[in-house]
Amino acid sequence: MKRTILSVIYFLVIVAVITSCNSSNTKNTDNSTVVNDRKWWKEAVVYQIYPRSFKDSDGDGVGDLKGIIAKLDYLKSLGIDAIWLNPIYSSPNDDNGYDISDYRNIMKEFGTMEDFNALLKGMHERGIKLVMDLVVNHSSDEHEWFKQSRSSRTNPYRNYYHWWNAEKGTPSPRYSLFDINHDAWKYDSLTNAYYLHYFSRKQPDLNWENPKLRTEVYDIMKFWLDKGIDGFRMDAFQFVAKDTTFPIFPLGYEKDFIKYYGMVNPIHDYLKEMHKEVFSKYDVMSVAEGAGNSFEDAHNLVDADRNELNMAYAFDAVDIAKPEGYSVVKLKEIFTKWDSAFAQKGWLSVYLANHDQARMVSRFGNDAPEFRELSSKMLSTFLMTMRGTPYYYNGDELGMTNIRFENIEDYKDMPTLNEYQHQKNIGGDIKHFMETIKFGCRDNGRTPFQWDSSFNAGFTTGTPWIKVNPNYNTINAAAQEKDNNSCLNYFRQLTRLRKENLALVYGKYTILDKSNTDVYAYTREMDGKKLLVILNFKSTLSTVTTGIDVSKAKVLLSNYSVPGNNTKLRPYEAVVYELQ
Ligand code: NOJ
Repeated sequence: MKRTILSVIYFLVIVAVITSCNSSNTKNTDNSTVVNDRKWWKEAVVYQIYPRSFKDSDGDGVGDLKGIIAKLDYLKSLGIDAIWLNPIYSSPNDDNGYDISDYRNIMKEFGTMEDFNALLKGMHERGIKLVMDLVVNHSSDEHEWFKQSRSSRTNPYRNYYHWWNAEKGTPSPRYSLFDINHDAWKYDSLTNAYYLHYFSRKQPDLNWENPKLRTEVYDIMKFWLDKGIDGFRMDAFQFVAKDTTFPIFPLGYEKDFIKYYGMVNPIHDYLKEMHKEVFSKYDVMSVAEGAGNSFEDAHNLVDADRNELNMAYAFDAVDIAKPEGYSVVKLKEIFTKWDSAFAQKGWLSVYLANHDQARMVSRFGNDAPEFRELSSKMLSTFLMTMRGTPYYYNGDELGMTNIRFENIEDYKDMPTLNEYQHQKNIGGDIKHFMETIKFGCRDNGRTPFQWDSSFNAGFTTGTPWIKVNPNYNTINAAAQEKDNNSCLNYFRQLTRLRKENLALVYGKYTILDKSNTDVYAYTREMDGKKLLVILNFKSTLSTVTTGIDVSKAKVLLSNYSVPGNNTKLRPYEAVVYELQ
């Protein structure tokens, strides 16, 4: 009897230990957070490089790996920990590298495998990790697999993609994000069948139901991980699994397509298999683009005990910015609900911009000359003081802005050009369309990095693949190096601040003055340390009521050089206090 009781107690203790280990952050009785699961990828600031636009070393107008190598000391000086590099693999560039024709080779315009090896070595020597893009929802139609696949119905590669034989009738409609007609089925007369492409016609979707395809993907991942890279950002990953009976979706499904395309069964089986075959063997990070349709979906992707991925990023915050503005209350609600859903378990990523968005300062801040620097620094303060891993897009540290092209000929982005044609075909409002893309087209975030005030902003000696923003004469890295108060030097202070205050990474987040329409205020606390962050998101004087006495607090960082008033904030004012 005694032995039975002892075994029950023993069992309960074990269960309690396992449960606490499975939760990444647990709470102390004093309600502050105790970190029991520190990870490098939680503490990292991830800086994203869009290689095509970063630095051109050979004058062909396209950024390249040698260009990045030339800027490694600059990257180190930012205080970032990891770089997410957009695709650099062989590609015909229908979608700037998101259409891969050889997963084990480097795109010619970007350089060679030797350049890649040198880049990785140079990064590691400087303590910077490398995260590569993994694009395996689709390949290029110029990939050998697809060439084989389309050649005949009996080719061994046929099942690497999704085909629908035409004698069965037309397949049920699927929406394509990038196609000129938004039709995701392309008829191919060679074998009298349709193939599926959620993105462009040149990006056929891979068939994850096929175990051979999955093994190929795991081998590709191991190929790069064995070279020493430190993780993957997984492109459009929430879409990889499909119901291959292709049921008819209700009318209007395309307005909410993630609900139908995202997280289809058995995606978690695939991820668990990938984890077992690949991730479990390396100390690397993984982040999925897209987090499904609910917190439950997101948790199922990233919770440590699921053995799938580390992080995912959702789109709801970046989606609220509109040409007519956005609600600061809404922004606060979104970040707050994500934070509370992940406070005890799982891990978040935090971002406001990337290569699929226009410039952060033009969408969420104010790029008018009098407010550009202030609002850019304010937004950077926000990103660097939230819980979760921040993803920071190249050029935002300079406060680079939207270019706002007037002519369609200046745009290079394939989906934008296809949509322009689509609007023309359906007699759409072209004037309105042109205005929308000035605000939101991703080319705005892809103009060349502004290094200095020399020809083409020091990006290339040739003709850049996309026009340089003419404001490079005033907004450029060289000028900002010399100015202690520049956005660039402010960003360096922010990365240092985050490094010096683990509470900014793991600490409990509490929003204050929630319904304030202008100001975002919150505290971050851990191990007896408490920081207060106050951000004015407006160009007006704004009032905030935090209920916290800051008279004895220390200002750790502010984007104004002269101290202000803690309840009346100046335009785009940002202050980080340490409370005593
Ligand atoms: C998401 C990527 O971020 C985007 O740039 C790309 O066009 C699509 N996936 C298709 O790969």
